[in-house]
Amino acid sequence: MPKSPTESISEIKPTDLRGILKYVPLFQNEVFVIAVDGSIIEDPLFNSLLLDIAVLRNLRIRIILVFGIGKILHCLAKKKGTNLTDCHGTERVDAATLDLATKAASDISHRVMQGLTKLNIQCATTNAVRATSVGILKGEDQQFLGKVDKVDADALQQLLSNHMLPVISPIAFDRDGDPLRLDSDHLATEVAISIAASKILFITSHSGLIIADQFYRALETEQLRKIFSENSNDLEDSIWRKCKLALQALDGGVSRVHILDGLQADSLLNEVFSSVGVGTLFYKDEYQKIRWARPEDAQTLFDLTRDSIEREELADRSLKEIEDSIESYFVYDIDGYILGCGSLLSYPNEQLFEIASLIVKKTHSGKGIGKNLVSFAEEQATQKGGNHLIALSTQSIPFFTKKCGFDKGSIEDLPTPRVEQLNASQRNSQILVKDL
Ligand SMILES: CC(C)(COP(=O)(O)OP(=O)(O)OC[C@H]1O[C@@H](n2cnc3c(N)ncnc32)[C@H](O)[C@@H]1OP(=O)(O)O)[C@@H](O)C(=O)NCCC(=O)NCCS
Repeated sequence: MPKSPTESISEIKPTDLRGILKYVPLFQNEVFVIAVDGSIIEDPLFNSLLLDIAVLRNLRIRIILVFGIGKILHCLAKKKGTNLTDCHGTERVDAATLDLATKAASDISHRVMQGLTKLNIQCATTNAVRATSVGILKGEDQQFLGKVDKVDADALQQLLSNHMLPVISPIAFDRDGDPLRLDSDHLATEVAISIAASKILFITSHSGLIIADQFYRALETEQLRKIFSENSNDLEDSIWRKCKLALQALDGGVSRVHILDGLQADSLLNEVFSSVGVGTLFYKDEYQKIRWARPEDAQTLFDLTRDSIEREELADRSLKEIEDSIESYFVYDIDGYILGCGSLLSYPNEQLFEIASLIVKKTHSGKGIGKNLVSFAEEQATQKGGNHLIALSTQSIPFFTKKCGFDKGSIEDLPTPRVEQLNASQRNSQILVKDL
């Protein structure tokens, strides 16, 4: 049974706020375009989605809402016995279909505005998007099927600056004021590109991208491009379109595109405020970055290493020890979420460096993050005049030897203070060495 908005809210623990607040400055004043499928608007959970949107707005995230009408249009046609030429704004739209689509759009617009008003959110439907007819495709006149001609980004920015939430309908007007039916996902993509939004969130009835029973949690643009071209024929129509538009958005400057299941309670907040997320994320490569750690990262690094320490993969380090040596740590950060870390240790009077505390979140392992962190350590050690990089490992020896080019070494490869430390730890770690 779906949860009511109040039930969902009561499950948030006060301590969860600590994690959330950390990300608030990161998203402040950023624009998120939220594209909601018609099927979600019909569901009772839509009200809790609006509540989640209210939360994002209160955290000073600027939201533009684009809605779809597919499901209600389908129901209306069934009720009236009308034969639709198109349901999703992707095929020929005849006059009868346009007429019903216009009714569906005004009905949904009414519901969205009503829901937002109940939550005290100021909103405005807008004609900031001008449409143009698709024209003739493969010899067939597409009649009232439209596409985006122009987005008035200034008008949208003004609404956002005035704390209004723009609501955009998939019925838009051409230069002459004639209505045309557009696909809401295409609309959301064009709006996001024009306004330089940082995210598009496609809220659908799908959990994300699944191919041959494999669920894809996060894909960088080029990975998506490859997977999309290889599996294009096997994807369900609506996911195919979303992937295609995601590529268009990423190429057009939008940093991140999410697909998530709006029929799952709290999915929007879980997607935005957790490092793992619940849906599929497509992201631009430049957002993958390795940087030196900052003092405020210490707690996250401590939490990240806990499980591995229990499994004896890593040597134990207290929070205080991490805090005291925070400048030696480097982190793999995607948009504020730390997915892995390592530390680079130096020894006085030695041209030798050590990579320690290397760890990658289980949810993101096998994606090259570990190898990237090791390459970063090698590059930094070389720049600092090092000629050897060592690592001590108990359970990832093949990773270092087979994947990162390390050789098995011996106690002679270690500086004296490190030998003493190793003996005292009784971990009996394998010494690994790489010439730089
Ligand atoms: C070791 C570790 C950092 C690798 O990170 P990762 O991001 O998953 O690694 P990458 O994606 O860059 O590399 C993956 C490759 O290494 C291999 N690999 C990863 N961990 C391995 C391990 N423990 N043993 C053998 N091979 C391993 C994978 O099979 C994969 O091989 P493939 O390219 O043929 O598919 C990660 O598994 C981890 O956090 N381990 C626990 C902590 C640890 O042992 N740290 C080292 C001590 S300092």
